Formats: sequence, structure tokens, C-alpha cells
Amino acid sequence: MCGIVGYTGNLNAIRVGLEALKRLEYRGYDSSGVAYLDKEKNIQVIKSQGKIRKLEEKIDKINPYSNTAIFHTRWATHGEPSDINAHPHIDCKKILALVHNGIIENYREIKENLKDNHKFISKTDTEVLAHFLEENLNKEKLETKNILKALKLLVESVKGSYALNIIFKDLDKTIFFARKDSPLCIGIGEDENFLASDVTAFLPYTKKVIFLDDFEIGYLTPQKIYIYHVKTGKEFLLESGKIIKNTLNKKIENIPWDVSQAQKGGFKHFMLKEIFEQPKALEDTFLGQKEVLENLVERLKLPSLIVFSACGTSYHASLIGKIYLEKFSNLPCICEYASELRYSKFPYPKDALFIFISQSGETADTLAALREAKKRGFKTLAITNVLGSTISREADYVLYTYAGPEISVASTKAFSTQVLSLYSLAYYLGKKNGLNLNYKSHFSKVFTLIEKLRNFLENSENLKNIQEISKWLASFKNTLYIGRYYNYPLALEGALKLKEISYIHAEGYAAGEMKHGPIALIDENFPVIALATKDSYLEKLKGNIEEIKARKGKVVILSDEENLKSYGDFFIKVDYLEDLTCLLNILPLQLLAYYTADFLGYDVDQPRNLAKSVTVE
Ligand code: F6R
Repeated sequence: MCGIVGYTGNLNAIRVGLEALKRLEYRGYDSSGVAYLDKEKNIQVIKSQGKIRKLEEKIDKINPYSNTAIFHTRWATHGEPSDINAHPHIDCKKILALVHNGIIENYREIKENLKDNHKFISKTDTEVLAHFLEENLNKEKLETKNILKALKLLVESVKGSYALNIIFKDLDKTIFFARKDSPLCIGIGEDENFLASDVTAFLPYTKKVIFLDDFEIGYLTPQKIYIYHVKTGKEFLLESGKIIKNTLNKKIENIPWDVSQAQKGGFKHFMLKEIFEQPKALEDTFLGQKEVLENLVERLKLPSLIVFSACGTSYHASLIGKIYLEKFSNLPCICEYASELRYSKFPYPKDALFIFISQSGETADTLAALREAKKRGFKTLAITNVLGSTISREADYVLYTYAGPEISVASTKAFSTQVLSLYSLAYYLGKKNGLNLNYKSHFSKVFTLIEKLRNFLENSENLKNIQEISKWLASFKNTLYIGRYYNYPLALEGALKLKEISYIHAEGYAAGEMKHGPIALIDENFPVIALATKDSYLEKLKGNIEEIKARKGKVVILSDEENLKSYGDFFIKVDYLEDLTCLLNILPLQLLAYYTADFLGYDVDQPRNLAKSVTVE
């Protein structure tokens, strides 16, 4: 939540930074702003409520030039979205400007201590940090050494989470930073350097990155990067491309992502592009994980229980993972929402393995649950899409998905690659557990899956059919998704996709639960999406569909069985591929949500009230 960017180099920081900020807009989009140093090395700030394009309009009018700028796109926590509450925030004397991603938990206390000497103008928690630094720099000369001292004090005094970029009056081409519990990384360029919440921001300029860790502060200039760990006193210094000092043991990583992956590439929305990217994302994930998985499972001790934990779509992937692992590995599994697990008593056997699934690798609840599990001595495995993300670095073991950057807020390709990762993991764990599994047939199906997905997406009749159903669905206020077995988690995921981008109330239900309540809702104004593929207790599901029809409910049937066509009002034909059918079924569900939201004219990639990485609790 919230995206921050900093640039210093020889280019116009305002334009480079603005484009970088747009690539982070999925992290928050209720207001945005920039601070830069003008020719006289004074701080200037431009902010605007609304999307980044509003900020851009203001920037276009002034057309400023600077070699150093910091940017912010906001997802409001403290204080409503407004020009005043938008970042950057400044101190009373305008000696500094800062942008912040995170939450300052003790901001009231800090404000109270400062209120006699400082004037606060916004309702944000962030503004106190600007005044805190001002107060502690009061009698000091504005030079690097003193600023680092003040930043150290800030880290020692402030409770909560923060990724901070800060610029100071008169200190040309220098950006200071600090990080705790919110993501921040440095992009290393040639005679230019970047700071950003994630790497997609600076991908067109550099793929060389340093991920910052908690309690690290420092600064960068176009030629220099200095990092200092407040707790250990260890340092890192890079000057003109050479590492001069590295007691911190920082690594310079190379991001394998391609710039084009972070662009729409002719599609109307990122979500549609990402839906279409699924065959490739699955192929990359399958091939990319092969060796890693063998090695990983070799190192893992077989647990007596697997505890999955995640949020949202990633949680739905874990529900499918549970089926895979129980079926192919013979290992009992449970799935817990990370927001619940983190506060639980962890009453699990000592040898339980915790698997945390997170596209971003930054979700606050998932990270907190992971930390709790580790604190209690459990082994942890992270399945994540983002190299160097906090969750990937903190878990004992990590398995990356290779979906490439997922920009649309609604997760699509990340989900599919998570599910496939769990399918593969289940095989290797099963083998280790002594099950007689046929590698060839297990995995040759993956290539059939990829081919079938490609065929589905290339068939214009499929797309036309889903578009028509979407048009019809758009006229309802409520809808229900039902399914059994693999199709139950898919019902949850289909409903989540629809509600989050089209704002139509949608619920996913285990079809067998219909009679225990939801059937009361059914009438001609309550459409049901029935996921009715073979092997998912189809005969029983047919019974559920009959019950809905008997109550005049309208039904969209998604099935591989042509003869089910007559059961419903609409029919979506999918293929059948045994345990991988769920990865075929997800495609029409994602498309249904996409076309419905698009038909209703909503901003598909940036739905209201949401943000891509939920880095606050
Ligand atoms: C829904 C969606 C969210 C995320 C959830 C977890 O389309 O994207 O529900 O799945 O916020 O995010 P990650 O996987 O990044 O931990």
C-alpha cells in the first residue's frame, strides 16, 4: 500500500520519477505528489488528490526540472484522501520533504512532544516524521553525518512500519532513506540511482538492485550508495560502481523480469494482459521450478502436518494446494487466513511445516504470521512471485513462481502459478513420502494444460460467449458461485474476482452448503455460476443445479460435459484435464469478472478502496 519513488541522476528527475511512479500506481491511487530541489536548491512540492494523471496535469503546467525528486502514490490510512494529506510532507522551515509507506503507530505521542514548537497541517501520521527530523536537526548543520544521526534517532524512537525517502534543502543530488517493515529497494544505474517500493518502478533503467532490510538507513547520490544498519552498526558503501565496504553483506541482485512485462502491450488493461499471459507464466514456472523443487524437497523433513497460510486469492490457491498435498503426498494439511493465524496459539505439532503463499511477498498479515511461526520454532516455506521480497527473505525456504510482474490489483496469473507450484510440490513430497507416482504422466499433463489454455484464449467464440454472459451478469446486484472439491476454492476465487472489480456482490459457496442457508436467496434475480466439471462430484452438483432451477434461479454452467448445456441458461465449455482441470476453469471465471467490470465501465486495474500490496494490517 502506497508506492514511493526517488531518483537522482543526470536526467530530469520529475519526468523519470513520474513514469516510475505510474508503474507503482497499483499500490495506491487516491492521491499523489512529488518534492524536488529547484535551481536555488530549495524544496518545491506539488500534490494532488486523485490518480497520478491529476498530478501529471499540475506538473505539466509548471514543467519543472530537477536532478533529484521523491514521489508518492497514496492509499490512505490516516486522514482522508486530499491535497493536504497527500505526500510529500514537509517540516515547518521547509528544510526537508519526505514520502512514507507504512504506518507510524506512536505518531500521537511524537506529535504531543513536538506540538509546542511545530505546526502540523495534515491529518496524517507521516507528517510527524518531518517535524521529528527538523527538531533533531535544529542546531545541526545540514550535512550527511548529522542527517544520518537524526535518522538513527528516528529509527530508535518511532514505532510502526516505514519506507522513507527524504530530500533536504541545499543537498543537491542526495536522497536519504530508512526502512522498517515496508518494502524499499535501490535500483543501481550508471551515474543515476533509484529508490522504490518495488523494482517495477525502475525496470526500464536498470535490473541491478539492492533490497533494503529492516533498520537500515542511508543515502544515495548518482555515484554513491551508503547503507548503515542502526542495530548492528554494519555498513555498505558503493562508489562509482565499486563496492568499497560491505560489512553488511549486501548483495546486488539481477532482476530477471523484462520491461515489456510491466507494460500493457496493446491490451486495454493489465488484468486482461495478465489473464492472457497465463500459459507463458505457467510454462516459465513449471520449467523454472523443476530443479529447485527437487533440491528443496530433499532438504525438507517430512512433516506430520502442513499449515498453509495466506490472504485473499493466495489463500484460495492454498485451498487447492491442500487437496493436492493430501492426494499426492498423503500429508494432512490445514489452511488458515494469515490475519487469523498470526493471533492464534499455534497449537500444531512441533514438526509442522508452514507454507506461506504471497504474490507480492510483502502482505503484512502473511509476514506477521510467518514471523510468529518462526518465533515458535516452526520451519517455514514461502511461495512468492517477487524476488527479494521480505517474505522470501525471512522464510527458511523459498519457492518462486515465475509469473513476471503482476500489475493489475486483481490477481490472475499469480494465482495460476501458485496452484501449479503446489501441484509440483505435492508430487515431490509424495515421492519423498514413498508414494508410487508416475513422474512422466504427472508432469506431461502440465504441457497439455498449457496448450489447452492457449487454445481457449485463441478461440474467439469462447471470448464472445463470455462477453455475452458478462453483459447479462452486469445487470444483477448479487450472484453466487458454487462448486465442489477443486471447484469449491474456485467458486471462492471466481466470486472474489467479480466483486472486487465489478462491485457486484458475489459469494462463493461449497455447493453442498446451499441447502444450509444460501438457497433462501435464490429467485429470478439471483444468478448462480455453477462449476460443474467431471470428478467434482458432478452428479451431486447436478442435483444442486436442479434445486436452483426449481426456484427460478438463473444458472451459468461451466462444464466439460456438453449434455449439461440444457441444465442452465448459459453455458461455458471447458476442457477436462483430471487434477489440472481447475487451472482450466479459472480462465473463464477471470474473464467473466473482467468483461463484467469493463462492461460496467469500471477501472478494472485499480478498483476502488483496494491496493495491490497490502502492507498494513
Ligand atoms: C485479489 C487479490 C488479493 C491478494 C491478497 C494477497 O485479486 O489480489 O486478494 O491475493 O491481497 O496478496 P499477496 O498474494 O501479495 O500476499
